[in-house]
Amino acid sequence: MNTYIGIDLGTSGVKILLVAKDGRILSEVSESYPVFYPQDGWSEQNPSDWLVAVKTGLKKLFEEGKYDSSAVKGVSIGGQMHGLVLMDEKDEIIRPAILWNDGRTQKQTDYLNQSIGKQKLSSLTANIAFAGFTAPKILWVKENEPENFQKIAKLCLPKDYIAYMLTGEFTTDYSDASGTLLLDVQNKCWSEEMCRICSVEKKWLPKLCESFEATGKIKAEYNLPNALLTAGAGDNAAAAIGTGTVKNGNCNISLGTSGTVFVAQDNFSVDEKNALHAFAHATGNWHLMGCILSAASANKWWIEDVLQADYALATQAENKLGENTVYFLPYLMGERSPHNDVNARGAFIGMRPDTTKAEMSLAVLEGVAFALKDCVEIACANGVKVDKTNICGGGAKSTLWKKIIANVLNAEVRSLQTEQGPAYGAAILAMVGVGEYASVKEATEKLVKIDSTVSPEPKLVKKYEKRYQVFQKLYPNLKTVFAEM
Ligand code: XUL
Repeated sequence: MNTYIGIDLGTSGVKILLVAKDGRILSEVSESYPVFYPQDGWSEQNPSDWLVAVKTGLKKLFEEGKYDSSAVKGVSIGGQMHGLVLMDEKDEIIRPAILWNDGRTQKQTDYLNQSIGKQKLSSLTANIAFAGFTAPKILWVKENEPENFQKIAKLCLPKDYIAYMLTGEFTTDYSDASGTLLLDVQNKCWSEEMCRICSVEKKWLPKLCESFEATGKIKAEYNLPNALLTAGAGDNAAAAIGTGTVKNGNCNISLGTSGTVFVAQDNFSVDEKNALHAFAHATGNWHLMGCILSAASANKWWIEDVLQADYALATQAENKLGENTVYFLPYLMGERSPHNDVNARGAFIGMRPDTTKAEMSLAVLEGVAFALKDCVEIACANGVKVDKTNICGGGAKSTLWKKIIANVLNAEVRSLQTEQGPAYGAAILAMVGVGEYASVKEATEKLVKIDSTVSPEPKLVKKYEKRYQVFQKLYPNLKTVFAEM
């Protein structure tokens, strides 16, 4: 039977799935790589680490001899978005990639939003500048590392680098390109004016493709003799495909290193203040998205790094659902949506002498849920109704977290039979790319199935509504303190 490979090039590691054409996951491997934080608020990775991890993972997938690598017809990648990868004339990496959650570009972000102006940016790209987007990073390199800037011959996103290494074809897709702030999202072409503003030569940029378009043959060295690469998508659009979030108004929440609220849109639209990202979807349509920079990563920091405890700790405080006195602000890496503030940081507020570790752990899960609600509220103000949502990502394994999110958002939370959102979505894109299915929508209808649903409980919804009103006041009151810190 034909098989397909879906790759999720994440921040903590790469996940690679081997999927049968009927959607069954046959095998899964993960390889991790480090993130470097060379200064407060900076975040970098070595593209060579991604490549080694992908090569190792692909090898491991077939190591036991259980599956035949020549049956693989297609490969595709969902990748961490916005990362700046720079190559010189010889295709050598110029400097480590600057990642999506890097906050060094306050000055360049302010320049774009204030001197070029939000209105102009929005009319050119459908978005305003956020520190994690690619364009301000390009300006940062130009200003701070002119010797590196001079060497640039190619500029791309993380998954596009891997795709280039796999096939020799230099391509990207519209969903991922949307997050560069160089794409005219509505008209699906590079914005000449944005390139000029950012001193980017168009010849540095990859060719634009739909996410489900085949782009090239995998090179012989990867031992997948019959496989074509399909352009793939930013990890959130790939996750949306993997969870079947493809129809107008469908919502997906991803609880990974970042947390995202992703709403599929048949037609192009932008929210009034550009608080949400207006990006292309991997279906060929569009989506709105809010992104919080620390989600499952905030929980990992608290449980693993600080407490060195078990993830089940928060369940000891389950009797405090909706009544916890502790609040947590999850802004460990600053915050993207909706605050757009690189200075914001994490905070616990409201502890008392009898506060337990379990209650603080519960507050972490709740704080992330409230931060996601901040994004949902904007989508709702923009006419979107979120009364149900799909969910994926590492954090979605926690039943308690799903219960909290269902009640904080007052929405049904649906888990899928295949929880590997971006990697599964990438595998689906690979299938469509080689014609196994006629369209992304047709493929998801056939392959993606709901596994379980957590429904909101009216009593808890009321309690959380009250708590959210308090949560909403915390950031505005701390904003200036964060800046002074
Ligand atoms: C989305 C974003 C993150 C990364 C995580 O805008 O920055 O979700 O894609 O990999």
